[in-house]
Amino acid sequence: MKRHARVLAFAFAVLPAAQSLAEAISIDVRKTDGCGCCLSWMEHLEENGFAPAGEDMAGGLLASFKRENGVPQHMVSCHTAVIEGYVIEGHVPASDIKQLLDERPDAVGLAVPGMPYGSPGMGPEEDREAYDVVLIGGDGLTEIFSSYPASN
Ligand code: CU
Ligand code: CU
Repeated sequence: MKRHARVLAFAFAVLPAAQSLAEAISIDVRKTDGCGCCLSWMEHLEENGFAPAGEDMAGGLLASFKRENGVPQHMVSCHTAVIEGYVIEGHVPASDIKQLLDERPDAVGLAVPGMPYGSPGMGPEEDREAYDVVLIGGDGLTEIFSSYPASN
């Protein structure tokens, strides 16, 4: 019994350290200067195993960047990120990005259009309004990737 407990204690001490050694996934975030919610979203990514690098762009240039990277007009939000050939538009949760990278569909990427309250970087989750994460297909068509219900 005693020995078993010691082995367990060892496992708990080692596991978190091993996890933090796992390499963070680079993600390139284009945003406008002074966008606070963009920085909050980058913090959310950092807390969830990503290494975000932010780059400020003038509004017009950022709008062209979105267009050139296949983000349809009705999917637009504040920031636009690029990761492993996919575009991430707006306040997409880190878990959805990980799922996208696992599944690797033939697609442009993911979007959370607008800036729904309670999405990552947009205020407390307990006050969340309902929103969808949308998959932008290779053909430019969109479909729902995941849905987050309102918190209350
Ligand atoms: Cu925002
Ligand atoms: Cu943003």
